[in-house]
Amino acid sequence: MGKIDIQINRIETSRLGDVDFENIQFGRVFSDHMFVADYENGKWGNFEILPFQDLNYNPAFNSLHYGQAVFEGMKAHLDAENNVVLFRPRDNFARLNRSCERLCMATIDPEIMLEGLSELVKIDKEWIPKTDDGALYIRPLMFATDQYIGVAPSETYKLVIFTCPVNKYYDAAVKVKVEDVYSRAAAGGIGFAKAAGNYAASLLPAKIANEEGYDQLIWTDAKEHKFIEESGTMNLMVIIDGKIITPPAGETILSGITRMSVLQIARDLGYSVEERQLSVDEIIEAQKAGLLEDMFGTGTAVTITHVSAFGRNGTNYTLPPLSERKVSKQLKSELEAIKRNQKEGYEQWIIVVR
Ligand code: COI
Repeated sequence: MGKIDIQINRIETSRLGDVDFENIQFGRVFSDHMFVADYENGKWGNFEILPFQDLNYNPAFNSLHYGQAVFEGMKAHLDAENNVVLFRPRDNFARLNRSCERLCMATIDPEIMLEGLSELVKIDKEWIPKTDDGALYIRPLMFATDQYIGVAPSETYKLVIFTCPVNKYYDAAVKVKVEDVYSRAAAGGIGFAKAAGNYAASLLPAKIANEEGYDQLIWTDAKEHKFIEESGTMNLMVIIDGKIITPPAGETILSGITRMSVLQIARDLGYSVEERQLSVDEIIEAQKAGLLEDMFGTGTAVTITHVSAFGRNGTNYTLPPLSERKVSKQLKSELEAIKRNQKEGYEQWIIVVR
């Protein structure tokens, strides 16, 4: 027995036949259905699964003006028996609620979201790609719907969970620029939240970096631009002299579910892991000394994406060839196996939807 009654309206004719699963552009193909819910009068209701479609919006929705909008990203895969496997959904839903709290939005019982999501992925199971790098990317989204342009927390919200079949986010290793003018997040701000506005603020600096020949940025701390933070949509890790080092998730760095998972897998495999501040100078010194073995980003969309080179103030520093990045490749294949329920000992991270 579930916690909620979900009204289910199925699509008349599935759009599945139109999809070329080998050639999907990330985030542009949407599965047949979505789960929606409304928050009003202090509670969540109107739980519904319906065909993916436009929602009505009003120009006075305060999310459009003042940015009360948060989202999540998670993935589902198929296991060997063709069951849908969700990877750490409760962790994503807990983080969604932390984001909501920071943006003064309504929170929602994770079990309600899990129930809605489970029903949704059962209905759209055929949308899960069977390709090696494929997954069903799940996008929970919440935004404020009060029609009011005074600045105040909304009293009504919409929750939507929709899904996209995806392949790789990046086709190849990325070249990144150390950003030392713009900042993504500052202490006391909303950097730890998965808030829409954080991504809006990243677009101009990333565009400038693109024009300079980089794929993405490495953000540095807002105060001194000395210590590395995130990279694009990823958490960043380096391997220096056998040690996996990553800055601590906290006020300004999103607590990535992939980040947490990779660190745990690394510890379980016996690697040395350090979560500590890491300066750009330290990385450059290690590179010059031949001790910088790897640099890679972690995230739901990117899984593990290698950095080919990084630049600071116009000087580029190259990383070893991908053929030498054995540790990060091992971490990636362990993670992918866990996500498909092929690895004993990590059952607490997955939910098999039957
Ligand atoms: C994710 O990894 O799920 C992200 O949030 C990336 C997304 C902004 C494309």
